[in-house]
Amino acid sequence: MTRSRAARFLILSSVVLALLAGFALWQVNRELARRGSAGFSGAVTGVQIGGPFELIDHTGAAVTEKSFGDRHLLIYFGYTFCPDVCPTELAGMATAVDRLGADAAKVQPLFITVDPARDTVEVMADYVGLFHPDLVGLTGSDEQIASAARAYRVYYGRAETDDPDHYLMDHSSLVYLMAPDGSNLIVFPYGTRPDAMADAIRDAL
Ligand code: NI
Repeated sequence: MTRSRAARFLILSSVVLALLAGFALWQVNRELARRGSAGFSGAVTGVQIGGPFELIDHTGAAVTEKSFGDRHLLIYFGYTFCPDVCPTELAGMATAVDRLGADAAKVQPLFITVDPARDTVEVMADYVGLFHPDLVGLTGSDEQIASAARAYRVYYGRAETDDPDHYLMDHSSLVYLMAPDGSNLIVFPYGTRPDAMADAIRDAL
């Protein structure tokens, strides 16, 4: 193929793939809406999700899973340099928390970085405020982050790149609702609509 034909082919394939992905997400959301909050479950797999962590919050304070009193934890793992997936999911989480109304006080949203090399306390402090005043950003040493990610079965890794300062991270993208006793109540798939998330959280509180 010539270069322009190759380019046209690539663009066309991307458009088709994007349409297919959009359709798949629409179907998932429609199915979740049909089933209501019963569509979400962390217990289905039988795999234990969650566990103790020791991290540093965006004010520089050392925290653990027990630092948030009797609130439920709404946890998302990602990184601030993420171009699309993380901001989309964090915005959705923030909207879901707002839709809880008075029940929002019972839920602590947390954003745990999988990129502690770049996501310092200062970077996290600047970032979380963009999404929600209650959102707490958590970072830590490589070992602390690895340990927290392991507890939540989160996959992450640095994507191959020629530019060491502008690398991307591959990472799983799920939102976890944890009870105050540390047990996992719900795992929300990526792209869960904020109102569906809020309904499921309210049912679980
Ligand atoms: Ni991301």
